Amino acid sequence: MTREAQRQVAEGEESPLYIDELIKGRRTKRGFTNKPVPIGLVKDILSISKFAPSSSNTQPWRCHVLTGKGRERVVAAAVQAFNRDHETMAPEYPFFPEPLHEPYLTTFTKFRGQLGDAQGVERSDKVGRRRDVARQFMFFDAPVGLIFTMDRRLVPASFLCYGIFLQTIMLAAKGRGLDTCPQQIWSLQYPVLRKELGIPESDLVVAGMCMGYADNSLPENNMTLDKVEPETFAKFIDV
Ligand SMILES: Cc1cc2nc3c(=O)[nH]c(=O)nc-3n(C[C@H](O)[C@H](O)[C@H](O)COP(=O)(O)O)c2cc1C
Repeated sequence: MTREAQRQVAEGEESPLYIDELIKGRRTKRGFTNKPVPIGLVKDILSISKFAPSSSNTQPWRCHVLTGKGRERVVAAAVQAFNRDHETMAPEYPFFPEPLHEPYLTTFTKFRGQLGDAQGVERSDKVGRRRDVARQFMFFDAPVGLIFTMDRRLVPASFLCYGIFLQTIMLAAKGRGLDTCPQQIWSLQYPVLRKELGIPESDLVVAGMCMGYADNSLPENNMTLDKVEPETFAKFIDV
């Protein structure tokens, strides 16, 4: 937070600056330092995130917090499963339609290319790419990993609520100096997570999340991504 934003918050001035800075400042980070995150800070973030809105206040979220030995155990099992089964692993729910159509295919391909370039992996280097995917299951070295589940009888409307909840967590974390990476990819690890965390069959693995202090010396933590302008995604009626 800038000094100016801090001053405005302290003085209770009406200004969107602080929230705007958090929204813009939250970026997906794929590499973290080993600076520990006090568990009290994680509890604090979850306590404030409970105020996220949800359809008819249903609050469909369930969360497993992984730190220390618990995190190590899950990471070891997940990396082992990935190295063994990477060719056959599938998520519990589809991430994209198959085949992916335009304009999403172009943005998807561009983003993957940018990420690979930042990570220094050639597009043809399958082993290098696999190694980078395995790092997802190490929570990119973040000391805190979160696994999110949801009662599978719920319908897509609850995914809307879930997305808002995840963003609320990420902003609350950013406001406390922490960085995050939301990770749908953990849905591929549902058999491991079910076993290691005792997640019942009745629950769907929605996503994971890294939380920690980003290593901002890494190129992949400094990517400039295209963001579509409101002139393109919004229609202003009768203005
Ligand atoms: C629902 C959701 C799932 C995501 N899953 C992953 C993931 O599995 N792995 C990953 O590295 N990034 C994941 N991301 C991060 C996106 O790639 C990232 O948000 C996007 O590229 C835009 O970058 P930004 O967050 O820095 O603005 C996910 C983001 C969202 C919203």
